[in-house]
Amino acid sequence: MIDQIIAAREAALAEIDAADSLESVTALDTRLLGKKGPLAQLKTQLAGLATVEEKKAAGQAVNEALQATEAAISARRRLLGDAALAARVQAERLDLTEYAGRPARGHAHLVTQAWERLEDVFIGLGFRIAEGPEVETDWHNFEALNMGEGHPARGEFDTLFLDYAPPGAEPGHTVLRTHTSPVQIRTMLTEEPPIYIVAPGRVYRRDTPDATHMPVFHQIEGLVIDRSITLADLAGTIEAFTKAFFGADFSSRLRPSYFPFTEPSAEFDVQRPDGSWLELGGCGMVHPNVLRAGGIDPEVWSGFAFGFGIDRMAVMRHQIADIRDMYANDLRFIEQF
Ligand code: FA5
Repeated sequence: MIDQIIAAREAALAEIDAADSLESVTALDTRLLGKKGPLAQLKTQLAGLATVEEKKAAGQAVNEALQATEAAISARRRLLGDAALAARVQAERLDLTEYAGRPARGHAHLVTQAWERLEDVFIGLGFRIAEGPEVETDWHNFEALNMGEGHPARGEFDTLFLDYAPPGAEPGHTVLRTHTSPVQIRTMLTEEPPIYIVAPGRVYRRDTPDATHMPVFHQIEGLVIDRSITLADLAGTIEAFTKAFFGADFSSRLRPSYFPFTEPSAEFDVQRPDGSWLELGGCGMVHPNVLRAGGIDPEVWSGFAFGFGIDRMAVMRHQIADIRDMYANDLRFIEQF
């Protein structure tokens, strides 16, 4: 009996050793360890043995043979599984060096590059990014920004009025936004101060294209509302931004100006290392009427805002002579960057 058990065990182990696929191991598992397997058959014959000692010895031998078979099946399965995985990895391998000789074509648009860099710099200065719609209500674009109907400053921001009216707005009172400043109002109405946001986006004006103007262009708005904010905070932020964005050899200045939504207001210019100045945007302390329109108490909170042209920043950074070149899709121009 013991000899039979040993022979069955050896035969089973040899078969397992010879199995060359996971499927055949599974088939062997069922056949060798199942109820009708050779070792199970031998087990049923134990009762027929003459002495208790014989039964004990043979029983132990069968159990050991079953354990050895089980262990061999698991080991074989692991081995074949590893080999199958390695073969799959090899087959699905992606040779990333294949394209090394052919760099990707194209790059982000100069305005997109400037937009993303602006976001990075302002996030570094502790600001969050906010957004607003390009189709805006007259109220958000003008009225809430202290430019009531008939206000002369509206003339500076001539734009397209739309028949479309979003919920809550009257038809004919919807405009393609002329600046990113309405995002100030939207942020004040939805967030509690302190507020530190910048809002980049596309804006529209009835401006004739020339070397420094486009009818569709981009601005980035900044809004800070906190306790005891002063003009010094505004000037310091603009200067820190100038150095972070353009480099340590650039500086900024504020020039008195007028915007209905800020008081006092200023124009923000940047000086290049060669000493020349370029106007980049407007800024000022948020007008109390604007704070009130945004549901904020001007007796408790104060703040500053700024808005500048992203296209003009790209022009300045790359020393482009004419803003229209950025939109002409002329490969001779595009391939320089
Ligand atoms: C405004 O649009 C104000 N909303 C800015 C502001 C925000 C002031 C917050 C105070 C507080 P302005 O019209 O000057 O201001 O435009 C701001 C900048 O947008 C300009 O300095 C310029 O860089 C850019 N810009 C204006 N018009 C055009 C245009 N047609 N094409 C390209 N860039 C333009």
